Amino acid sequence: MELVKPSRSLVVYSAPNLHPWTHPRATLADNSSNSKTPLLLQLQLHRRATATATNHNHNHNHNNHTAPQKPKLSSLSAADLRSEFAHHDPAVARINNGSFGSCPATIIAAQHRWHLRFIQQPDDFYFNVLQSSILRSRTLIKDLINADHVEEVSIVDNATTAAAIVFQQTAWAFAEGRFNKGDATVMLHYAYGAVKKSVQAYISRAGGRVIEVQLPFPVRSNDEIICEFRKALEQGKSDGHKVRLAVIDHITSMPSVVIPVKELVKICREEGVDRVFVDAAHAIGCTEVDMKEIGADVYTSNLHKWFFCPPSVAFLYCRKSDETLDLHHPVVSHEYGNGLAIESGWIGTRDYSAQLVVPEVLEFVNRFEGGIEGIRKRNHEKVVEMGEMLMKAWGTNLGSPPKMCSSMVMVGLPVCLGILSDSDALKLRTHLRDCFGIEVPIYYRAH
Ligand SMILES: Cc1ncc(COP(=O)(O)O)c(C=O)c1O
Repeated sequence: MELVKPSRSLVVYSAPNLHPWTHPRATLADNSSNSKTPLLLQLQLHRRATATATNHNHNHNHNNHTAPQKPKLSSLSAADLRSEFAHHDPAVARINNGSFGSCPATIIAAQHRWHLRFIQQPDDFYFNVLQSSILRSRTLIKDLINADHVEEVSIVDNATTAAAIVFQQTAWAFAEGRFNKGDATVMLHYAYGAVKKSVQAYISRAGGRVIEVQLPFPVRSNDEIICEFRKALEQGKSDGHKVRLAVIDHITSMPSVVIPVKELVKICREEGVDRVFVDAAHAIGCTEVDMKEIGADVYTSNLHKWFFCPPSVAFLYCRKSDETLDLHHPVVSHEYGNGLAIESGWIGTRDYSAQLVVPEVLEFVNRFEGGIEGIRKRNHEKVVEMGEMLMKAWGTNLGSPPKMCSSMVMVGLPVCLGILSDSDALKLRTHLRDCFGIEVPIYYRAH
C-alpha cells in the first residue's frame, strides 16, 4: 500500500487481544450520548470461519447426501470470552493492549492457586516445588520458540530486566579491558526509551560509544531500515573500533514497526558484530518467534503483553556459547554462578506465580483456532482493517505499510487536531481517557 500525506502525529491502535472492545468510530463520533458499540473482535472472526466451514460442509453434504457435520468451533463461547475479561473496566475502551497486555480470568485464577500454594507452606514450596515448576515453564517456552536447549531459556520479570542482564555484561567487558574505549553499540533510534536509558547507564558510562540507526518516519520498506543499519555499522567500525553489540528491536514500540530482524542479524554476522541482542518485548503472540530462524545471540520477549500471562514475566533466550555462560542476573543471590536460568529462578524471596502459569496459558491459547498463531493472524488482519477504516475517515495515512504492522497499527491523526508537540499528544491522550473513556497511545514526531 502507498503511504500518502505523512502525518506528524499518529494514534497507535493495538488489537484488543480477544477482550471485548469498543468500536473506535462509534466512540469517537458520539461523545454526547457516550454510547459504545460492543464488539468481539475474535468472535467475529470465529463466526466468519464458522460460516465458511458450514457452507463448505453444506455443499459437500449436498453432493454426498450425508448428515451435516458440525463445523470446527473454538471451545470458547462469546459468553466465555466476555467473562474471561469481565474484570476490565467496562467504561474504558482499551485500545492499548501493547503496554500491559490483558490477562484472562482463567489465568488469574491459576496464578492465585500458585500464590496460595506458596504462602500455605513456603518452605516446602521453595525447596520442593518452585524450581521444577519454573523448569516446566522454561521447557514449554523452549519448544514454543524453537530453541535447542532448555538451558538457553531463562525466565525474568520483563524485557527491561533482560536488557540490564545483557548490558551489564557489556559494561564488565569495558571495565575488565576486553573492549576498548570507543568500541560501539549500535541500536535503533526507535529503541524503547527505558532500554536507551539502560544502554546509557551501563554501556556509555563504561566507555562505550552508542550509535543510533536513524530511521525515516513514516517507514516505507525494510530496505530503508537495512540501508540505515548498514551505515550505522560502518560508522561503528570507523577509526579501527569494533561493534561489540547490536541492539535490535523486533517490533518497535513508538512508532510501532515490525523490523526485519532476521536480515539485520545476518548483516551483523557478515560485518563481525560481536553480539546481537534482540529486544522483542512485544513479539511473542504478535509476530513469528523462532530462535533458529532469527539467529540472535540473545533475545527477549515479554509474556505479559501478547501471550496472556499476568504481569510480569518475560523469557530471555541466550544461545549456548562461552560468552552467554557469563551472563548474570543483576540481582545476585544464592544461585550466583550456576547459570543465568538457575540464578533467575531464585533472586530472593518474592512471588514467582506469574512465571508458573505458562502451562495454563498454553492451554488457554490452544482453545482458539490455530492457537497463538491463529490469534496473532486474526489480530493483524483486524487492526489493519480498522486502521484503514480510520485512515480513510480522517483523510490521513498509516504509519507503515500493513505488512510492517503486527497486532498494532499506526494511523495518522487529522491535521485539524493541531498536534504539534509531544505535550499536545499527551494532552490529547489524557483528554480521550478522561472525556471519552478511550485508552490509546499517541505519538508525535517532528520532521
Ligand atoms: C520495545 C520495548 N522494549 C522494552 C519494553 C519494556 O517492557 P517492560 O516494561 O515489560 O520491561 C517495551 C514496553 O513496551 C517495549 O515496547
